[in-house]
Amino acid sequence: MGRAKVFVSRLIPQPALELLQRHVAMGLNVEDKPLSKAELISRIGDAEGLVCLLTDEIDDELMGALPSLRVISNVAVGFNNIEVAAATRRKIAVTNTPGVLDDTTADFTWTLLMATARRVVEGDRFVRAGKYQGWGIMLLLGYDVHDKTLGICGMGRIGKAVARRAQGFGMRTFYTDPQRLGENLEKELRVEFTDKETLLRESDFVSLHLPLLSDTTHYISTREFSLMKKTAHLINASRGPVVDEEALVQALRTKQIAGAALDVFEHEPKIHPGLFELENVVLAPHIASGSFETRTRMATMAVENVISALEGKIPPNIVNPEIYA
Ligand code: DGY
Repeated sequence: MGRAKVFVSRLIPQPALELLQRHVAMGLNVEDKPLSKAELISRIGDAEGLVCLLTDEIDDELMGALPSLRVISNVAVGFNNIEVAAATRRKIAVTNTPGVLDDTTADFTWTLLMATARRVVEGDRFVRAGKYQGWGIMLLLGYDVHDKTLGICGMGRIGKAVARRAQGFGMRTFYTDPQRLGENLEKELRVEFTDKETLLRESDFVSLHLPLLSDTTHYISTREFSLMKKTAHLINASRGPVVDEEALVQALRTKQIAGAALDVFEHEPKIHPGLFELENVVLAPHIASGSFETRTRMATMAVENVISALEGKIPPNIVNPEIYA
C-alpha cells in the first residue's frame, strides 16, 4: 500500500512541512494566500488528510466533494471555519491546536491593552507625522493600567494566562464564564467570578477570550457598551464576530467607551470603514499567536494530529471524538 496523501492548504513553517514529508505524500499550496473552494477541491483531490488554516472555509459541500478525506487538521485553536457537525456525520476527524499558543496570545492581549490604554500607536503616528514639538504636560494622556479592574470574558486557557499577567499590575480581576473555576484556582489566579453585566459595569478593561458560537456572536453590542464605563477599553483577541463592529464604531465615535484594541474583525479580512477614521482604536492583523516559536509549534502539532489520525489512532487534539465511538 502506498503512503497516505495529505494536502496542506497554505504555506506553514518549514519544520512542520519536513515532519509531514517524512510520513506521507504531501501536496502543498506554496503560496501564502488561501485557495478558493473550487481550487481546494481540485488540489485536495483524493488526499486522505488536509492540513488547513482558519482562512479556509471547510463546509459540508467541500467535504461532500472529497470522498477520500478522513482527517481535517486545523492549524489554529479556533475551528469555527470548519463545519464540525458535517465532518462528524461523514466520520471525518477534525483536530485543532490547543495549549501551545496560550501564553503568546496572552502576551499579545496585554500588548493590545497597554497600547490602547497608553495610546502607543497614536503616539507613533504623531511622531512620524512630524507633530512632536517637545514635551507637553497634557500631551497624549492615557489611562493607568496598574491597580485598575480587568474583566475577562471566557476563562479558558487563554483567559487564565491573561489573568496570571494581571497580578503583576496589581489589578482586581473579574471573570465570567459558563463554568465557574474551582475555589483553589480562583485563589491562585486571584480572580473573582461574576455575571456579565457586573463585569461590564465594573471593569476598566474588558478582554474577550470566547470561542465563536451562535450564542457568543455579538456578545458585545449596543446594550453592553451602554453598561461600560466611559473610561473603559475593550480588547478583542478572540474572534471578530464576538463584537458587533457597527455598535463598536458608534461607541468609540460617541466616546461611550474610551478606546478599543482589536486583533480580529467581524468580516475578516474586511474592516469596518468607520474603524479607520477613529484614533481611539488599535487595529492589528490577527497576529496574537504570531511569534516564530508559537506558529512553528502550532503547525507541528497540526501535522502530528494528521499523521496520528492516518495511522489509525485517535489524534491527540480531536475535536469530534464521537466519530470513534
Ligand atoms: C487561533 O488559533 O484560533 C488563532 O486565532 C490563530 O492563532
